Amino acid sequence: MTAERLDGKRVAAEIREQIAVDVQNFISAGHSPPCLAAILVGEDPASQVYVRNKERACEKAGIIGQTIRLPASTTQEELLQTIARLNSDESVNGILVQLPLPKDGNQGNGFDERAVLDSVDPLKDVDAFSPVNVGLLMQGRHRFLPCTPHGIVQLLHRCKVPVAGKHVVVVGRSDIVGKPMAMMLAQRDGSCGQETANATVTLAHSRTSNLKQICQSADILIAAVGVPEMIRGDMIRSGAVVIDVGINRVKDRLVGDVHYAEASEVASAITPVPGGVGPLTIAMLLHNTLNAARLQNTPGE
Ligand code: GUN
Repeated sequence: MTAERLDGKRVAAEIREQIAVDVQNFISAGHSPPCLAAILVGEDPASQVYVRNKERACEKAGIIGQTIRLPASTTQEELLQTIARLNSDESVNGILVQLPLPKDGNQGNGFDERAVLDSVDPLKDVDAFSPVNVGLLMQGRHRFLPCTPHGIVQLLHRCKVPVAGKHVVVVGRSDIVGKPMAMMLAQRDGSCGQETANATVTLAHSRTSNLKQICQSADILIAAVGVPEMIRGDMIRSGAVVIDVGINRVKDRLVGDVHYAEASEVASAITPVPGGVGPLTIAMLLHNTLNAARLQNTPGE
């Protein structure tokens, strides 16, 4: 079997085109263009690329993207003050703090990342990292969906991969991908998309016994571990759908968490790296920014 390639880049382009239209309609209704403020602390090269990509994507969608670049020497207090200023700035609809924060930041003491993320106004929290937004997601009444898991939900839906009643194995329990992914696919009421709810979900991680057998039992296998090519062909059931969230630089090549050549021999469909899940994350960030602008322009919110 040679797996169908699930083209995240194409799906993301489709979503971004629709968002650009929705943004124009929002502006035509008399509102200011939505505005996303990204805070980048330090000089991490990968983070600089991500933030530049976000700026470009905002511009193409008609969203104002501003980046606040702070030196690694910034203190925790200064970072919290920057976020407080953006929280109270009515012209800013969405705020994101690019992760990871530099380990040697805050004058060499490192940042308290949790306190930083907790300080973002939940109504502007377009990453959906704040405890309020995580709690709302858990209860099936989300305000914002976290960007990468939401992108995967969109990809499954738009590529017509059936999810209801299927066994999904998520490998990796991060707060950004694994945990919310498992929660979204297991939702009962379709609050995260009717077509992509009602799965039976196993959340596997680094301490899981019998990882190979558990992966082999998946109808849909989602790898989000950050270990290059950890998921090998013999861990995948014939005909399974494989979603690879990993982006790992190995020598001068980008590889996922899945061994693509082996997996595409057994899977029925698979996302490539790059060009799979990655482009969807930014598309859903734009979606959340427009959504934030709408929420802030709705009386009573
Ligand atoms: N770094 C890697 N992924 C993410 C993300 O989804 N949001 C933010 N803010 N930083 C990241």
